[in-house]
Amino acid sequence: MPDISVRNMTVRDIDEVLRIDEKITGKPHAAYYESKVASYISRGPDYCLVAEHRDHVVGFVLGDVRGWEFASELSGWLEIIGVDPNYQGQGVSRILMNELCARLKRAGVAIVNTMINWNDGDLIDYFHANGFERGEYVNLVKNLAADEKQ
Ligand SMILES: CC(C)(COP(=O)(O)OP(=O)(O)OC[C@H]1O[C@@H](n2cnc3c(N)ncnc32)[C@H](O)[C@@H]1OP(=O)(O)O)[C@@H](O)C(=O)NCCC(=O)NCCS
Repeated sequence: MPDISVRNMTVRDIDEVLRIDEKITGKPHAAYYESKVASYISRGPDYCLVAEHRDHVVGFVLGDVRGWEFASELSGWLEIIGVDPNYQGQGVSRILMNELCARLKRAGVAIVNTMINWNDGDLIDYFHANGFERGEYVNLVKNLAADEKQ
């Protein structure tokens, strides 16, 4: 495993974070991503982290603490985690995830939520491997375009 360190993300890291995102997805990032990352950093600076190898950003996680919509208790959220494809499979996300969870625990939250596509079996396997289980809530969607046709 490479020598990886973790620190708080700053706005100066946003370009590197988006570079990793582009490497993962193979497409240019959407214009609003930059402000989205910046708003996470300003809301929860202790829960937005980068992993570095030799002063080079190789992974990131964006997290948050907020009230779960239907209960008063605060919950942790893992919005997105990403690792440079050249560094995947070497424990980088494990280090980021462990640090995020340790910080969330210190903040007093008992539960960490994340949202993924139910059809993405690979991602479900990944989160299972990292201690996540299916939660109690299900998301419902209303198709506004279909609504217009009625
Ligand atoms: C998913 C991702 C973050 C994993 O990062 P990584 O650094 O390669 O993962 P790690 O090497 O730290 O693996 C941590 C654990 O997850 C497991 N794991 C990693 N990828 C997995 C996968 N695709 N399916 C199942 N388990 C997986 C590993 O086996 C390891 O478990 P172990 O310690 O019990 O062996 C990385 O592949 C990535 O950036 N993917 C694209 C973006 C993405 O899908 N992000 C998640 C949604 S927000």
